[in-house]
Amino acid sequence: MFSTVRIAPSILSANFMDMERDIRMLEEAGADIIHVDVMDGHFVPNLTIGVPFIKQLRAITDLPIDVHLMISNPQEQIDWYLDLDPDYVSVHIEAVPDEDELHVLLRHIRERGAHPALTLKPDMPIEVLDPFIEEVDMILVMSVFPGFSGQSYIEGSEERVAYVAQVAKERNPDLLIEVDGGISAERTAGLVCAEGADVLVAGSGVFAAEDPARAIEEIRLAGTEAQADKERA
Ligand code: DX5
Ligand code: ZN
Repeated sequence: MFSTVRIAPSILSANFMDMERDIRMLEEAGADIIHVDVMDGHFVPNLTIGVPFIKQLRAITDLPIDVHLMISNPQEQIDWYLDLDPDYVSVHIEAVPDEDELHVLLRHIRERGAHPALTLKPDMPIEVLDPFIEEVDMILVMSVFPGFSGQSYIEGSEERVAYVAQVAKERNPDLLIEVDGGISAERTAGLVCAEGADVLVAGSGVFAAEDPARAIEEIRLAGTEAQADKERA
C-alpha cells in the first residue's frame, strides 16, 4: 500500500528576515512538515538557529515541526527542545557514541511526547542503525554531508534508503524514512521514493524556485509516482 509522499521544506533556505511570510507561504502551499536544521558550529561547520527561534515558530504554526539536531552531546540539551513541543526530533548517531546512552535518549524523547528519529552522516555505515530500528519512528537518511543547503545529492544514497526499508519491513513496518539533501523533482525525489522514502526534505528545491508551491507539488508528485511504480512492479 503506497501513500502520498510527505514534503518537509527546510527553512534553512527561507528568508530569515521574513520568516513569518515564508511559513504562511508553506502552509498555503500544502507543506506537510516544517524541517528545522539546528547546527551548533561544532558537530557541523555551520551555526544556525536554536531554542528561541523554534519557540516562536511553534507559536505561529500548527504544522508538524521536525527538528534535525546537528549538535554535539544532544542528550545534554534535549529537554530544551522537548519543552517546545516538537513533533519529530532527529539526533545524529555520531553525536552519542555510547549505545546505552543513545537508547536512553531515544526512549526519553518518546516519553516526552515527540517522535524519536535517528540520523547519520553519509559516510557512516548504514548498518549502525540496526540496534535502534524498533525504537524510532523515523530514520533520516542524509544524502549530503550535514551543514549546508544547496549541495548535490550524493549518488547511491538511495541504496541506503533501500537498506533501511528492508530492515524496517520485518522489524518496524510503520517506520518513516525521511531523506535530506539535494532533493529535486527532476530526479532524486523519484530515486529515493522508489526505494521506500516517505518524507522528503527540500530546502533550495523549494525556496529557490520561482513558484515554491508548485515546487512542493512537483516534488511530491515525482516521489509518489515513483513509489507507486515500484509497488506495481
Ligand atoms: C543540511 C540540512 C538540510 C538542508 C537541505 O545539513 O540538513 O536540511 O537544508 O537543503 P537542500 O534541500 O538545499 O539540499
Ligand atoms: Zn536537515
